[in-house]
Amino acid sequence: MLRGFWYSPLRSDQLGRGRPRGRGALKTAMLLGTPLVIGRDREGRAFAMRDSCPHRGMPLSLGHFDGSEIQCHYHGWRFDAQTGQCRLIPSIPQDSKLNVERIRAGHFACEEHDGYVWVYVPYPGTRGEPEEPSPRLPVFGEHYTIAHLAADLPLGIDHGIIGLMDPAHGPFVHQAWWWRSGSSIHEKQKHFEPIPLGFRMSAHAPSANSAAYKLLGVYGEPVVTTIDFRLPNIRLEQIRCGNKWFSSRAMVTPVTGNTCRIDFCAAWNIFRHVPFMRSIFGLFGRMFIGQDTRTMTEQSLGLRYNPPLMLIDDADRPAKWYFGLKQAYLRSRETGQAMEHPMDGPVTLRWRS
Ligand code: FES
Ligand SMILES: [Fe+2]
Repeated sequence: MLRGFWYSPLRSDQLGRGRPRGRGALKTAMLLGTPLVIGRDREGRAFAMRDSCPHRGMPLSLGHFDGSEIQCHYHGWRFDAQTGQCRLIPSIPQDSKLNVERIRAGHFACEEHDGYVWVYVPYPGTRGEPEEPSPRLPVFGEHYTIAHLAADLPLGIDHGIIGLMDPAHGPFVHQAWWWRSGSSIHEKQKHFEPIPLGFRMSAHAPSANSAAYKLLGVYGEPVVTTIDFRLPNIRLEQIRCGNKWFSSRAMVTPVTGNTCRIDFCAAWNIFRHVPFMRSIFGLFGRMFIGQDTRTMTEQSLGLRYNPPLMLIDDADRPAKWYFGLKQAYLRSRETGQAMEHPMDGPVTLRWRS
């Protein structure tokens, strides 16, 4: 689980709207094995704290929230929700020398956009300030539709991510009459290039049996797609066709050491005149992600006993790059040197799918 990055522990709609008060106003989420308490203050700004009182470990989410401070319900210590700073310890006498303001609850930089709450998980030994802006879904105009999907996986982050980037499972896992059949398997050749913290499948026309290609054919313009993977966990796909576009982001978020969650978010300006497009998208999206979830849940049964595994060329090369990128990131963190990218230039991969 990589630290020093932004992650999304929760969607905005899970936080609720308005300015709720009291206990129900606080939500909990697990992120990289750390329990969080998340809420919105009186001004509507999201905040995230470690869900543990620095006094004796009571979950702060069980306390009372008044719109700006959380009060622990064990001994009544109060904490500023936006900074984690302690504001009051009811048990100390008025002339006490104890400087209450120097006590802090665990606190995280927190933002909200694209329909997600974002929390910055600092690299150990660094201060909590974000070293990079939180990731945004690329959009190419003001008018678009946006939709979100999520699925929990009983697998560690690495299996979640390499399951997401793996091209070879398509014909076996994602068979459907409207998409493709097992017999449509054919050889593919794709070009990849290194990008900071990741790699890109260079701009290409989608394969003729993909849904994007079939659907966008109606616009009669060339269809171009690019797919990026970027540490720690993001896959971005863009499909452009003249001034029509579809942009999606899949993130795999480490929840604990052996569970993760896929968050899929897409924005588009194609077919906006078609009624129920969002529902249709949701239906197919859920089916697609459902197929992945089911498969990876089955895989987790086999992984329980720590079997030896293998990665083969070329279909598993992106997975090898992922592990290489992770190592390079950690090495650069340890040494303070620039990150050495595992790819030394553009590469062409071939596989059948
Ligand atoms: S445990 Fe929170 S105030 Fe004591
Ligand atoms: Fe899949």
